[in-house]
Amino acid sequence: MSARIIRCLWLVWDQIRAQRNAQVVDAIRSSLASCGPETLIHPSVVVVAPENVRIGEHVLVGPGGWISAVNTSINNIGGHVMMAPQVALVAGNHNTSVVGRFMDEVDEKRPEDDQPIVIEDDVWLGMRAIVLKGVTIGRGSVVSAGSVVTHDVAPYSVVAGVPARLVRVRFDREQVESHERVLYSQVITMTTNPDRPPVGDTP
Ligand SMILES: CC(C)(COP(=O)(O)OP(=O)(O)OC[C@H]1O[C@@H](n2cnc3c(N)ncnc32)[C@H](O)[C@@H]1OP(=O)(O)O)[C@@H](O)C(=O)NCCC(=O)NCCS
Repeated sequence: MSARIIRCLWLVWDQIRAQRNAQVVDAIRSSLASCGPETLIHPSVVVVAPENVRIGEHVLVGPGGWISAVNTSINNIGGHVMMAPQVALVAGNHNTSVVGRFMDEVDEKRPEDDQPIVIEDDVWLGMRAIVLKGVTIGRGSVVSAGSVVTHDVAPYSVVAGVPARLVRVRFDREQVESHERVLYSQVITMTTNPDRPPVGDTP
């Protein structure tokens, strides 16, 4: 086969693959509870129970991402969130408390088994980070690669490890105020969320 024919076949295959990927992404987007504009979802992403997942605007969900939201109320991913490759948001546990039955045969769940996850705006989840049920990642935070997040993360924290712990704060209080005034035209984290833990406190 000549190089020209191989090149033509390659271009056709490329076109077919691009169309197929676009269809897959459209299907994922339209299955979600909502999905904001300018949000990019890699075609390899898996969303289980997508009707329970809301994704904001300008979000990137990288290759191999996994979002499962079975039996939960709405899981919220805010705006301008970056999810690196293979990030997993896992909003449920199996019910492990039943004596005398195999775990895979226990269908009934306790309320604490399935709890929604909230990723606030402006968050970066590093490669292979795992966020478990009921966790809220505060606005502006960074979750290091490979972390397993089991507790809420205060806004503008950098957390790392298994389980994830605070390693430093991203901004001090003054920087947070400037940052939020520019991006949101008001300081949201400290003024409208008085119940939130102070910026950078250990989760
Ligand atoms: C979060 C991150 C940006 C922090 O980088 P940094 O500001 O340079 O921070 P440092 O490397 O100084 O780390 C601070 C502390 O956290 C620890 N740490 C950093 N990343 C860690 C991780 N993934 N797991 C465990 N501990 C980690 C460091 O060892 C260091 O601890 P020490 O002070 O005891 O040595 C970086 O660690 C990270 O995970 N980046 C993600 C990269 C990625 O996924 N890219 C995909 C592209 S979308």
